[in-house]
Amino acid sequence: MKDIMILAIETSCDETSVAVVKNGKDILSNVVASQIKSHQRFGGVVPEVASRHHVEQMNVVLDEALKQANVCVEDVDAIAVTHGPGLVGSLLVGITAAKALAMAYDKPLIATNHMAGHIYAAQVVKPLEFPAVSLLVSGGHTELVYMKEHNAFELIGQTRDDAVGEAYDKIGRLLHLPYPGGKAIDELASIGKDTYHFPRAMINEKHFDFSLSGLKSAVINRVHNANQKGESIQPENLAASFQASVIDVLATKTIQAVKQYEVKQLIVAGGVAANKGLRNRLIQEMQNLSIDVVFPPMHMCGDNAAMVGIAAYYQYLENDFSPLSLNAQPGLSL
Ligand code: KG4
Ligand code: ZN
Repeated sequence: MKDIMILAIETSCDETSVAVVKNGKDILSNVVASQIKSHQRFGGVVPEVASRHHVEQMNVVLDEALKQANVCVEDVDAIAVTHGPGLVGSLLVGITAAKALAMAYDKPLIATNHMAGHIYAAQVVKPLEFPAVSLLVSGGHTELVYMKEHNAFELIGQTRDDAVGEAYDKIGRLLHLPYPGGKAIDELASIGKDTYHFPRAMINEKHFDFSLSGLKSAVINRVHNANQKGESIQPENLAASFQASVIDVLATKTIQAVKQYEVKQLIVAGGVAANKGLRNRLIQEMQNLSIDVVFPPMHMCGDNAAMVGIAAYYQYLENDFSPLSLNAQPGLSL
């Protein structure tokens, strides 16, 4: 079969990224321009600032991705772009660039779901095997997704309030850690102990939904109470206790899902999939159940265009192309 080369664009949040991917697995380039430094001083992503950065970065990142892959736009078989979920202004920058390229070079346009991209990032490690369940944990999402085959996504559970990455970032701010706080909390947690025993919401309920706002409030209240009484808190134990709750809930629901859906593979993806505690726990649990578990490589857990190019390959095989009237879908779900 002929090689299929896809030029992919990702601008859903605060990373401007362009990649060239061959046959849904070989990454010829994956250039990511992060805006974290610009958003750090605000303690979170400022949508208007993000869109402006994407506009400034898009051509630079595109040129660099083509150069690193040693290809021209003429050589690629399709242009793929994230059309949701994400920030509307950010998405529109990527979509506009993709449409312009598709029109100027007469290439098919593929509209890819950002969360599908996160799942397909695992394919860099090994081919997806079905049936599969994905645990998607990022700054905006906490979801369990069942996949019977390629391109078939069934959302079986999700957070009813905060996303797990969002909770990490809020606790990070509480502990005066640099934004985004996930990585720093993970590191602190590795040297602390679960001494605070925070709640594990809905852990015994027979559904696959999550709730993280209660845990976040419990941690914030604990710190405020200590401050009022003039007591000190141990940041490493607080981080370890928060993380232990998060991991217990995520792992328990995931185990329930992989058993009920009798899957061959568990895929853990999204920015929080970089969490060492979560990785270790799920590797152990899946080993006990003899279920294969795949994590994308660390550098592909966060937002990047290669993951979009991998997911788009399977859309290409099904002729799932979009018209040039494609619009952003900020609230798109799987
Ligand atoms: O997938 P992603 O890059 O962007 C979204 O689509 O949201 O995820 C970003 C999130 C942030 O909340 C960040 O704090 C979190 O991933 N994160 C982590 C770790 N590394 C990044 N959370 C926990 N532990 C980590 N090691
Ligand atoms: Zn993401």
